[in-house]
Amino acid sequence: MPSTTTSPELTVPDVTVGAKPRVLSGIQPTADSFHFGNYLGALRQWVDLQREYQPFFFIADLHAITVEQDPKVLRERTLRAAAQLVAMGIDPARSAIFVQSQIPAHAQLGWVLQCLTGFGEARRMTQFKDKSAKGGEGASSVGLFTYPVLQAADILLYRPHYVPVGEDQRQHLELTRDLAQRFNHRYKKTFRLPEPYILKATAKITDLQEPTAKMSKSSSSPAGIVELLDDPQVNAKKIRSAVTDSGSEIRFDPDEKPGISNLLTIYSALSDRTVTDIEEEYAGRGYGELKGDLAELVVDFVTPFRDRALELLEDQQHLMDILETGRRQAAAIAEVTLRDVFQRVGFAAPARSTGL
Ligand code: TYM
Repeated sequence: MPSTTTSPELTVPDVTVGAKPRVLSGIQPTADSFHFGNYLGALRQWVDLQREYQPFFFIADLHAITVEQDPKVLRERTLRAAAQLVAMGIDPARSAIFVQSQIPAHAQLGWVLQCLTGFGEARRMTQFKDKSAKGGEGASSVGLFTYPVLQAADILLYRPHYVPVGEDQRQHLELTRDLAQRFNHRYKKTFRLPEPYILKATAKITDLQEPTAKMSKSSSSPAGIVELLDDPQVNAKKIRSAVTDSGSEIRFDPDEKPGISNLLTIYSALSDRTVTDIEEEYAGRGYGELKGDLAELVVDFVTPFRDRALELLEDQQHLMDILETGRRQAAAIAEVTLRDVFQRVGFAAPARSTGL
């Protein structure tokens, strides 16, 4: 397994003895295209992990509406997200790919967990601080405030072993583990404590124009983001115009040389070569050469991906069938967990139970 930073011991016995350990993660459908931060920070690991684990991957549309969305655009982006997941190698025959809002158990468990979360605990979440900074706390939705608690519900419902994400999600994973532990302690052992699966090398891909900031769809300049569904030549140009640092030495040093270090990280991930190997190859050569070669690598990567995603988008019924299969697989697991939870917190079961 590559170098990851995960948390220690699991204290909940495996409720799925005999079954393959599970992996679960989600992505918001809040842009027309995924970007390189999503891909290198998280999605690539999803593709790798689906082989050895029982995988659940979902499109987090409930989370998307914590900020205002155009309903038509949100629906389109949900399908675009599904097409991109399949195009990048998430295999619907191995992985359950589903839409979060189609599994009511997420919101239901979310409520139970909200009742276990301290106000101060939720307030400490840095993503809320960042996202509410622009318009001010008063203008933010309560959903944005409780966002990490819903994320905890997303995860705990499936009792996964690993949650592959980028560094920006670490704090939410810590909250998830705290809530799982609290529930287990207050009621009965119910939840597995999931481990974050965060690959050190690509945990934070930065903006090409502002290399100390995370590459993000809410970035101020589109020139800083490599969008996977964009015209490959546009992406090549973005790489060639990436901000680099003073001096001319090609050296991996995120503090002194954040721009070139980010390009080296992307180069290494796309070529499967070590950063040291690349540094050696470019010793004594200029930034321009490195950027030119990386631009070619990027074009070689995004072109077939984009072609495949656009082709998949032509057959929307096929994508909806994939999501329906995923929904059924996910619902079967989520409903069992939710039933345990409802029973443990003391909710009266309906007289004629037909399942949840
Ligand atoms: P989202 O949609 O913002 O991003 C999806 C994944 O991409 C990673 N990522 C990055 N990794 C490295 N460098 C970057 N610049 C970068 N930008 C984004 C994110 O860490 C994430 O893994 N809250 C989640 C969605 C979610 C979720 C969940 C994830 C909802 N429920 C349950 C895991 C488990 C989010 O906003 O991801």
